[in-house]
Amino acid sequence: MKYQANSTALSQSTDCIIIGIYENNELTKSFNEIDQITKGYLSQLAQSQDLSGKIGQATLLHSLPNLATKRVLVAGCGKKGETTERQFKQIIQRVTQTLKELNIQQAINNLTDVEIKDRDLFWNVRFTVETIEHSLYQFDEFKSKKADAISLQEIVFNTDDSQAQQAIAEAQAIANGVKAARNIANMPPNICTPSYLVEQAKNLAETSTALSLDVIDEEDMTKLGMNAYLAVSRGSQNPAYMSILHFNNAPDKNAKPIVLVGKGLTFDAGGISLKPAADMDEMKYDMCGAASILGTMKAIAELNLPLNVIGVLAGCENLPDGNAYRPGDILTTMNGLTVEVLNTDAEGRLVLCDALTYVERFEPQYVIDVATLTGACVVALGQHNSGLVSTDDVLAEQLLQAAQQTTDKAWRLPLSEEYQEQLKSPFADLANIGGRWGGAITAGAFLSNFTKKYTWAHLDIAGTAWLQGANKGATGRPVSLLTQFLINQTK
Ligand code: BES
Ligand code: MN
Ligand code: ZN
Repeated sequence: MKYQANSTALSQSTDCIIIGIYENNELTKSFNEIDQITKGYLSQLAQSQDLSGKIGQATLLHSLPNLATKRVLVAGCGKKGETTERQFKQIIQRVTQTLKELNIQQAINNLTDVEIKDRDLFWNVRFTVETIEHSLYQFDEFKSKKADAISLQEIVFNTDDSQAQQAIAEAQAIANGVKAARNIANMPPNICTPSYLVEQAKNLAETSTALSLDVIDEEDMTKLGMNAYLAVSRGSQNPAYMSILHFNNAPDKNAKPIVLVGKGLTFDAGGISLKPAADMDEMKYDMCGAASILGTMKAIAELNLPLNVIGVLAGCENLPDGNAYRPGDILTTMNGLTVEVLNTDAEGRLVLCDALTYVERFEPQYVIDVATLTGACVVALGQHNSGLVSTDDVLAEQLLQAAQQTTDKAWRLPLSEEYQEQLKSPFADLANIGGRWGGAITAGAFLSNFTKKYTWAHLDIAGTAWLQGANKGATGRPVSLLTQFLINQTK
């Protein structure tokens, strides 16, 4: 899809002009403009209550007098000055759906003049592009009958604001990253194995000279003493791989990197502590952390951000077989701490603790890990906010700010010393679970034992990485949050 921004005379011909109308018949700028061209035709319709300003309504008008463009799509934008971000998203989704159904190829979008509370034009344009791309996504790789091709080819934003171009560029890069993450995550687990994640990382590395890839296999892990990671992998026939994507693009090539680590459990059956059958298929999404890191690396490479960033995809599979690790096993992690396994389904932290130790060698400025780590996080925060745990207030604040900017929401959970108590083991330095209460926090507390050499934050995306039900599928979160965080680092 092509996006452009330039101020456009609405008298010129295109397939469709999109304009907004508020409730109580308050009019937008573009509405007035078309009303003038059509000599009051629109305001007549509005007066006779034939146009709805309600959110989510879209009225298609055809062959208006004096207007070269045949179609005008009038989108309800709610009460003037009160349109919220969420409502704006609904508006864009509805408009996109309508354009798709009508097989429209080119449209001029005037919803740039909709005022969204606390947001500027840059945000309006960026959010619109991201939302359109998100709405048009379809995953039909395994359907015999493919979805119809989408006719829509070009959207012109009617604005001469110079920021709009930059907003479009950022949005397209983020949307491409989100799409890549969704595609990998939606893949079935018989195809998306740890080695498949390596293939994806390889493909990405080939797209930019600033990117390069290192792969750590099980032999390397054995030499490195990554015994917790290896223990999780033992019950699976698919070997584990850790992909390390280097994006070396800071003006100072030796500048300390920001390291992103993603949990990449391509399937999590729970191991010997086997999960119940219901919804177990959804554990193919247990690699969404890794997918989001890959998507973020793609986005920042496309944006050519002047940063050094390292993305780690910690690929692994958790299955029960005769060789699988057991409850009761004591593992010696890469940093020397011993862990008593009390539940083999708390495997994410075991894979991550060794990955987090491994990345010490990069002398990172920051390390952020992203993981579908705990069901407890979903209980605590629901499916709208990712859980944030951090030992550093400044980094935490920066991540929350990026979340706020993108509406890829996150909420910080407390991490204080008391929680460590829950991880005590009579036999080892740590237990891998912390009991019934505060499970998302004790998981973070567990990880914090392995992150003492650098500034660290953890995002638990168990509730936000995919949707269930009718719209089942990966969301691509938190690619948008992470990319925004990295964009902010360049300023
Ligand atoms: N991948 C799961 C977490 C998960 C569960 C994410 C459901 C999304 C939906 C993780 O490996 C896991 O199984 N965690 C356990 C931890 C428990 C054994 C302490 C959980 O949350 O039940
Ligand atoms: Mn698990
Ligand atoms: Zn898991």
